[in-house]
Amino acid sequence: MFSKDLLRSKRILITGGGTGLGKGMARRFLELGANVFICGRRKEVLAETAAELGRQTGATIRALPCDVRNGQAVEEMIETIWKDGPLDILVNNAAGNFLARTEELSPRAFEAVIGIVLVGTINATMACGRRWLKAGHPATVLNITTTYTRTGSAYVVPSAVSKAGVEALTRSLAVEWGNRGIRMNAIAPGPVPTEGAFSRLLPRPELETLAKQRNPLGRFGTVEEFANLAAFLVSDGCSYINGEVVVMDGGEWLQGAGEFSTLGRQLTEKEWEAMKPRKTSSTG
Ligand code: COA
Repeated sequence: MFSKDLLRSKRILITGGGTGLGKGMARRFLELGANVFICGRRKEVLAETAAELGRQTGATIRALPCDVRNGQAVEEMIETIWKDGPLDILVNNAAGNFLARTEELSPRAFEAVIGIVLVGTINATMACGRRWLKAGHPATVLNITTTYTRTGSAYVVPSAVSKAGVEALTRSLAVEWGNRGIRMNAIAPGPVPTEGAFSRLLPRPELETLAKQRNPLGRFGTVEEFANLAAFLVSDGCSYINGEVVVMDGGEWLQGAGEFSTLGRQLTEKEWEAMKPRKTSSTG
């Protein structure tokens, strides 16, 4: 789909890059010639991913243990990376989410998700952004949000408020930093099966069928489709896209929003026929 050197020599950090969508993006970016750094909380998981992707792509990937909630730790990680040169691209992918009835959440439960998703994104964006602006280094940030930032969603409220904040950050800085060479964009994915998300967000396997029915395409997205979109958005090939949130969900949120969207499954053939205008016979 892309030329093999689309991201040649680009230095890219992916937060939460050890698993799921982050790992999928790391693989694709390496295939396209990038120098990839991944960070995450679990050292062993990062090391395994780095070794696996290194074997598969023949490229070297650097793994840096870091909890993005901790501003000081993020600052130190970014300083370490900058010692051999600036990053060109930051992907704020680290996330945390779970299903819960909101009235039962403790303050620490809110803090855990807001800390990773919103504060983590701010920490990494500010640490890189200040350095880029100071050096006049052109760069791009890709944030990973979700389709329910516009509608909100019951049972994932800490995630909904955090991801909505990330979209506000994306659009605000796209304007504030755009004239200094920094592009900010986001992808809002619908359901893409990964262990981290689906183990927390799909409590019963049967719910998978219902989830697919909610989607006009009748299926989930794939990590590969997601990684291709990410590669496009961070590449110089789309350097006029700034401040955009690209939805990749097969049309799921539109189907949920449309008042009559589910009629296709609810009405019978006979009922559709009955709604057609009656042909009146011409009397000449
Ligand atoms: N329902 C209600 N509260 C929950 C919860 C759940 N399913 N899971 C965690 N919490 C609460 C904990 O009870 C704790 O609050 P308390 O101290 O008042 O009891 C608080 O959240 C922090 O939990 P803890 O497990 O200590 O935090 P953590 O930093 O280790 O984990 C999470 C962070 C909770 C976001 C965890 O789900 C995680 O690590 N997720 C990362 C991966 C992920 O979510 N991927 C999917 C992305 S879509």
